[in-house]
Amino acid sequence: MKSKLLYINTIGCQMNVYDTEQMAGVLFSLGYRLTDDIESADMVIVNTCTIREKAEQKAFSFLGRLAKIKAVKPSLIVGVGGCVAQQEGEAITRRMPYVDLVFGTHAIFRLPEMVRRIEHSRCRIVDVRLSDVIEVNKPVDVQLNENQVSSFVTVMRGCDNYCTYCVVPHVRGRETSRHPDHIIEEIRIRVEKGVREVTLLGQNVNSYGGKEGLCSFAELLKKVNRIKGLDRIRFTTSHPKDLSDDLVSTFGCLEKLCHHIHLPVQSGDDDILKRMNRKYSRDSYLEKLARLRATCPDIAITSDFIVGFPGETDRQFQATLDLIETVQYDGLFAFMYSDRPIAQAAAFSDKIPNLVKKERLKALLELQEGIRRNKYQAMVGQVREILVEGPSRHINTNANGVPPAQARYRGRTSSNHIVHFNAPNSLLKKKELLTGTLMDIMIEGAYAHSLWGRVTQKTMAEKTGKGGATIAA
Ligand code: 5AD
Ligand code: SF4
Repeated sequence: MKSKLLYINTIGCQMNVYDTEQMAGVLFSLGYRLTDDIESADMVIVNTCTIREKAEQKAFSFLGRLAKIKAVKPSLIVGVGGCVAQQEGEAITRRMPYVDLVFGTHAIFRLPEMVRRIEHSRCRIVDVRLSDVIEVNKPVDVQLNENQVSSFVTVMRGCDNYCTYCVVPHVRGRETSRHPDHIIEEIRIRVEKGVREVTLLGQNVNSYGGKEGLCSFAELLKKVNRIKGLDRIRFTTSHPKDLSDDLVSTFGCLEKLCHHIHLPVQSGDDDILKRMNRKYSRDSYLEKLARLRATCPDIAITSDFIVGFPGETDRQFQATLDLIETVQYDGLFAFMYSDRPIAQAAAFSDKIPNLVKKERLKALLELQEGIRRNKYQAMVGQVREILVEGPSRHINTNANGVPPAQARYRGRTSSNHIVHFNAPNSLLKKKELLTGTLMDIMIEGAYAHSLWGRVTQKTMAEKTGKGGATIAA
C-alpha cells in the first residue's frame, strides 16, 4: 500500500497527546505515516482542546492557517478532532467549508471508516456521538517515535465530577474505565517497542474501576508494577477527594512507582473550593499531603491553581498564597479563570476583572519562583537516578550561576525534574547504554526549568565494566 502522509497538531493536555497517538495508530492501517512537514501532508488533523479560552483560540488560529494551505492544495483532507470538535460539531463545517471531517472525543476508533469514505467520495462528515462505553477498549498499536522512552496510556476517560469551572464532563462524557487486561497488554506492546516509562492517564485516575466494579487504581498499579522491562510508572491526574489510603501506601511499596504526584488543589480557600464543587477542604487536602509525605518522604508534589475564580476576594486569594507557602510545591501550573460557556461558573456573578486576575497570577508565580529556586538549590550535591530520554533539545544557558553547559543528553528524575548532562564519550559510542537506561547523576547546578549534573563514577563503572576514570568533562 502506498504511504500517505499525516500531520497532526496536538493542542492541550496529555490526554490529547495520547489521543493523537491513537489517531496515528488507527490510521496506520489506511497507509498513513506521521510527518513533521505540514506542506507535504495528505491529511492534516488538529486535535483540539477547550479546557481554557486560550487553547480554543489556538485551534481556531491554526484552522485559519489551514484554509490557506487547502486553497492551493484542494486534495488535502482536513480533520478537526478533540474537545472543540465535540463542543462545536457541525458549526465548524458551517463556518469553515474547507474542513472535511469533524470527529468528537469518542469517535477516534471510527476514523478509518470515515477517512476511507472521504477519500472515495470527498463527502464531509461530522461524528460527535458520545457513547456510554469506550467503544473499542482493546489495546491499540501505535506509531512511536524512534527511541521513545516514555509513553502515555489511558486507563479511563471522561469525568463525573462537574467542577463548576470545567468543560471536561461536557465534552469528554461520563467516566468510563478500561479493563485492566487491555491496559496491561497495551503497556506490554509499548515496552516491546522500547518504552521504559509509562504514564497512566485519566481525568481522575483515583476513581478508576469504581463504576464498572473493576479493580481499584492501587491494584491496577500493582499489576503494572509487575510488567517486565518496564522501569517506571507515573500517573496523572488525581482528584484530592478520591485519594485513598491504599493509593498513598503504594508509594511506600511499589519500586517502579515514581516519587511524584500531581494533585490539583485549585484554591486555598474553603468557600471558593465549595463554589468550585471540589468536595474537599483545605485541611483535608493538607492531611492527605501529610500522609503522602509520611509514606514517601522525598515525594515531589505539584498542583494546578485557578486565580480569579468568580467572587474571589483578596483575602481568599491570600489563602491560596498561604497554602503554596505552607506546602512548598515542587512545581505548579496556574491559570487565570476563563469562562467556558457550557460550564456552570460561566453563569456566576462577581466576575473578576482581567487586570486583577493578571496581578494575582503574577504574585502567585513570583512566590512559586522563590520556592522553586530554593528547592533546586537544595538538590545540588545530591545523587539522583534519572531515566535518559535522549539528546538535550535546548538548554537554558541563562543559568543561576552555572556556566553555560555543553550538556548533550537529558533525562528525568523520579521526582519528574529534568536533568541535563554531558554524555561521556565511551557511552556516546554505545547508544544502547544511554537512551532508555537508568543512570545516577550528581547534580551540580540549576537552570530555571531544569538541573545540570554529571554521570557518577559508579554508573560509569557499571556501564562500561571499567573504572570511572574515562568520564568526559
Ligand atoms: N479557567 C481556568 N483554568 C481552568 N482549568 C480548568 N478549567 C478552567 C477554566 N475555566 C485548569 C484547572 C485544571 C487544569 C487542567 O486547567 O486548573 O486543573
Ligand atoms: Fe474537570 Fe473537575 Fe473533572 Fe478535573 S475533576 S476534569 S477539573 S470536572
